[in-house]
Amino acid sequence: MRAERTLAIIKPDAVGKGLIGKIIGHLEEAGFVVTDLQMTRLSEAEARRFYEVHAERPFYDSLVAFMTSARCVPMVLERKSAVSALRETIGATDPARAADGTIRKLYAESVERNAIHASDSPENAEREIEFFFPQG
Ligand code: RTP
Ligand code: MG
Repeated sequence: MRAERTLAIIKPDAVGKGLIGKIIGHLEEAGFVVTDLQMTRLSEAEARRFYEVHAERPFYDSLVAFMTSARCVPMVLERKSAVSALRETIGATDPARAADGTIRKLYAESVERNAIHASDSPENAEREIEFFFPQG
């Protein structure tokens, strides 16, 4: 099968704790190839737009505040079945429920400050890659 693309973001909590290298190493060990990467600080408008599917959820404002609180590291990852494989590699949203050995089990602090984002479908992966890497 041809490699598929997905988007990951190392979130502000993990960047602040100096975990960029460990998390990228974990992703590479899991067979992902980093094909594009940047460091950015999201504006409030950008964070609202990126997470707009959650606009009606009670945690939306808090999520936007967290995602704009410091810099984050969006990246494009390639692998066979990248979207589903990355969701498996990062683990459940709530680290208390994440499987052993997953990135969130290892590094997340809480259901909100959970170290990493991953696209949840191939369609959203393409939309999210375009959001951060419109030229690529
Ligand atoms: P993500 O989109 O960041 O990869 O996370 P996810 O699919 O595992 O979870 P999702 O339901 O899409 O939620 C997006 C992010 O919102 C924060 N959140 N806080 N306080 C809460 O109950 C709560 N629920 C979700 C997390 O940062 C979550 O990753
Ligand atoms: Mg999600």
